[in-house]
Amino acid sequence: MTSPILIAPSILAADFAMLGEEVRAVDAAGADWLHLDVMDGHFVPNISFGPDVIKAMRPHSTKVFDVHLMIAPADPYLEAFAKAGSDVITIHAEAGPHLHRSLQAIRALGKKAGVSLNPGTPESVIEYVLDLVDLVLVMSVNPGFGGQAFIESQVEKVARIRQMAAGRDILIEVDGGVTPQTAPPLAAAGADVLVAGSAVFKGGAAGYATRIAAIREAAEAARGTMV
Ligand code: DX5
Ligand code: ZN
Repeated sequence: MTSPILIAPSILAADFAMLGEEVRAVDAAGADWLHLDVMDGHFVPNISFGPDVIKAMRPHSTKVFDVHLMIAPADPYLEAFAKAGSDVITIHAEAGPHLHRSLQAIRALGKKAGVSLNPGTPESVIEYVLDLVDLVLVMSVNPGFGGQAFIESQVEKVARIRQMAAGRDILIEVDGGVTPQTAPPLAAAGADVLVAGSAVFKGGAAGYATRIAAIREAAEAARGTMV
């Protein structure tokens, strides 16, 4: 709880025609991690990019590549995402029948393993895999698109997962609708990593540093306070 809040801009909201430049720009603007959303048009109703695009972005930043797989099945592609330069690979608990096996596979590839929960999925589904998890990603919108409204009920889910993971080395990340307004209750509830797409990228590169700082400051100020 004492480690600083990490801000992870979501490249989904970047200009895809100049990805290398966008990665360098958010890195220079103070991003802690880069959040990379992979969508397959099957698990979620949108298609984004795959391992080759991640590999192409990799030389443009040395920061953590936080890869959020919204794909089903995920297992056949884990090795490709590991080789592309992912540091954290997060799969959805809803994406396959063998969550435990998938998390073992990510760890076996030498990567940090994350598990994500859709807004409608209770945290109880990850109770038996906590030994295999480095990160829990709480979706605060229905995955598939940037720019959606924050779902308030997920703040309490963050607090419950914080309790559930007490004494373990597990980061809690929140993704969807994060802004300087929604960040404080999330930080107070125990979130460690905040993903932000529109709130960082909308308005152009000149504002990246200011907008990352605004989310960070709002979150840090709320840390340790009650919800
Ligand atoms: C949604 C993605 C998010 C998205 C967040 O499925 O997982 O990472 O980019 O975008 P904002 O911050 O605009 O809600
Ligand atoms: Zn995401």
